[in-house]
Amino acid sequence: MTEPYTPPVLPLLDKRQRPLRDLRISVTDRCNFRCNYCMPKQVFDQNYRYLPHTALLSFEEITRITKVFVAHGIEKIRLTGGEPLLRKNIERLIEQLAALRTPAGRTLDVTLTTNGALLARKAHALKAAGLQRVTVSLDALDDAVFRRMNDVDFPVAEVLAGIEAAQEAGLGPIKINMVVKRGTNENEILPMARRFKGSGMVLRLIEYMDVGATNGWRMNEVLPSSEVIKLIGDELPLVPLEPSRPGETAARWGYADAAGRHDPVAGEIGLISSVTQAFCGDCNRARLSTEGKLYLCLFASHGYDLRALIRADGADADLGAAIGRIWQDRTDHYSELRSALPADAGSVIRRVEMSYIGG
Ligand code: GTP
Ligand code: 5AD
Ligand code: SF4
Ligand code: SF4
Repeated sequence: MTEPYTPPVLPLLDKRQRPLRDLRISVTDRCNFRCNYCMPKQVFDQNYRYLPHTALLSFEEITRITKVFVAHGIEKIRLTGGEPLLRKNIERLIEQLAALRTPAGRTLDVTLTTNGALLARKAHALKAAGLQRVTVSLDALDDAVFRRMNDVDFPVAEVLAGIEAAQEAGLGPIKINMVVKRGTNENEILPMARRFKGSGMVLRLIEYMDVGATNGWRMNEVLPSSEVIKLIGDELPLVPLEPSRPGETAARWGYADAAGRHDPVAGEIGLISSVTQAFCGDCNRARLSTEGKLYLCLFASHGYDLRALIRADGADADLGAAIGRIWQDRTDHYSELRSALPADAGSVIRRVEMSYIGG
């Protein structure tokens, strides 16, 4: 018989006094795109060994683990991949996760990051299953640039149709994630800002990161957020906004009205500056890989095998105790450390891939 599980005293804090709030779950290590900064074709080719189906956590296993995380303070869940919409029957998992409640009885913020390729087809079913919102990755509006960046010749029009379908289905507020690479898509920044200003969607510009070990990251391809702000602000004036909650990835900037005040109708953008302005200080994110390993940092090289624990018939109490101990021992703050390293040093450290651990 499974022994009753005693929830921990909240908030559960790590060694740097950071609470556990956000769980990002990777549901597949596969993707139908080959963005060069994430799954370069030369590495992720027909010989690449993806995880076998038996290695993947089942939906029941994911829900069971998530439930224990929720008892430890998780309030937000993000499904990622790879491309999460490639996981068969993902709606069933969303239904199970949407039914969970926090210790105070609140629903969780259940969200998903997608490249948008399958969104037009799936938006309504996702909403019906209980998904609250989506974040869509979109690196360019120009079709040629977009096709080159996804490297599978996928047309931008289909992603835009997916975004529209998500809006119609009520999967908002929608965020649009644009990874900026100097020399690749910096000319797309202004067209993207113009397009999404006043749309109700939040464009987020992300500094190209040295995540994983296969993308050949180089500092000279990073366009610092300070330059992005200047580029956009010179045409579309911006004012800084307060964070909406602690531990946020993005610094918020609002479009200004003629009087220089934030115009909420014009909306806002977000700058995610992991390279030039690390935000580890209040990082509250844990990551569960496709095969059930817990990672304490996007840049971690080691994961804790939770799948082994539950497949060995461990009780929820054992799982809970393990999660509690692991989080309490956490010291990770990679982005802060890398800022102190020589420019290209980060790329020699062995790390997990973003397609495996999820963004
Ligand atoms: P919202 O709840 O919608 O604000 O989402 P979020 O910003 O927490 O998550 P999202 O997946 O949209 O994050 C956007 C991008 O920021 C990711 O694709 C990564 O490139 C980067 N990112 C997210 N979390 C982290 C993190 O913990 N550390 C670092 N260095 N980068 C992160
Ligand atoms: N740098 C920054 N963001 C990245 N992503 C993947 N690889 C990188 C990288 N090297 C993020 C993007 C994408 C999401 C799936 O993962 O935001 O939209
Ligand atoms: Fe796929 Fe997203 Fe990685 Fe591009 S960034 S290869 S869409 S998982
Ligand atoms: Fe959190 Fe690691 Fe990202 Fe810092 S680098 S914000 S500790 S995930």
